[in-house]
Amino acid sequence: MPDKIALITGSSSGFGLLTAIELAKDGFRVVASMRDLGRRQFLDSAAAAAGVADRIDVRQLNVTDFDAIPAFIDTLVREYGRLDVLVNNAGFAVAGFAEDLKLDEIRLQFETNFFGVVAMTKAALPTMRRQRSGHIIQVSSISGLHGSVTISSYSASKHALEGWSESLRMEVSSLGIKVVLVEPGAFQTDIWTRGAVMGEQATKHTSPNFQRSLRMRESVEKLPKRDPIEVARTIAAVARNPNPKLRYLVGRDAKVQLALKRILPWKWHEKVIANFLKLD
Ligand SMILES: NC(=O)c1ccc[n+]([C@@H]2O[C@H](COP(=O)([O-])OP(=O)(O)OC[C@H]3O[C@@H](n4cnc5c(N)ncnc54)[C@H](OP(=O)(O)O)[C@@H]3O)[C@@H](O)[C@H]2O)c1
Repeated sequence: MPDKIALITGSSSGFGLLTAIELAKDGFRVVASMRDLGRRQFLDSAAAAAGVADRIDVRQLNVTDFDAIPAFIDTLVREYGRLDVLVNNAGFAVAGFAEDLKLDEIRLQFETNFFGVVAMTKAALPTMRRQRSGHIIQVSSISGLHGSVTISSYSASKHALEGWSESLRMEVSSLGIKVVLVEPGAFQTDIWTRGAVMGEQATKHTSPNFQRSLRMRESVEKLPKRDPIEVARTIAAVARNPNPKLRYLVGRDAKVQLALKRILPWKWHEKVIANFLKLD
């Protein structure tokens, strides 16, 4: 039986990097893509430490380079002969109160977190259809099921991903293709620092939300964040599972947040959040 092939986007740090290692340890041959090969040393040293460097093939790919994506996947399939798992992980967060965000900033958020995933998935589907098998694992977020203050466009991009993936799953399950959404809560990765891009207006003293933004930033910094290995192990477990569920919530915070949304009347729920975040 030939090795199973997994392709991951955004493997230079965080969940993507850790997932590359976990899948390689599980026996997958991993194509770990990243937009900047100048940052590959983090994955290279983690792979060497785990003894799986020979199972990971690092390649350059920016998920917003839509014209390059079909050729990237065709080349991979020509070289390896198949594609078993696609992990759509690359993403970032635009931060700032919605009133302060420019349309261009919101569009950029969707280009990566939503259209990047759509382009990758569409390019992978013909191969998976031909094989009559494949796992498409979307790294969404609890913010795809629950709006979050100061990341409205991030939350909207993940909500779009949720609806698109839920529909896609129904369309392709009879072809043997499994579409899965992984929904992490807060985990300690670069998305809280390097990967959080403040809207240009949001950082200005002239913004009517400037003081609220400062208070929010403090609350977000204080949020407890878990070890990201939990998410990587969940993704690897989904990749091994021949019959995965639609959604996997990861982290107690994600589970509690969703449970409260479902149980509490929305007005109460909003009050709890506003008090917690000192939103007035
Ligand atoms: N950490 C959390 O608490 C959390 C919670 C819920 C969901 N998520 C989701 O988890 C995914 C991974 O994020 P992370 O937490 O692991 O953060 P991270 O450490 O910042 O990793 C994000 C990765 O995405 C890459 N990336 C960003 N834009 C890209 C593009 N246009 N093309 C290719 N790669 C791109 C980054 O590359 P560079 O190194 O070049 O910037 C980096 O490798 C994201 O989809 C995020 O929304 C994270």
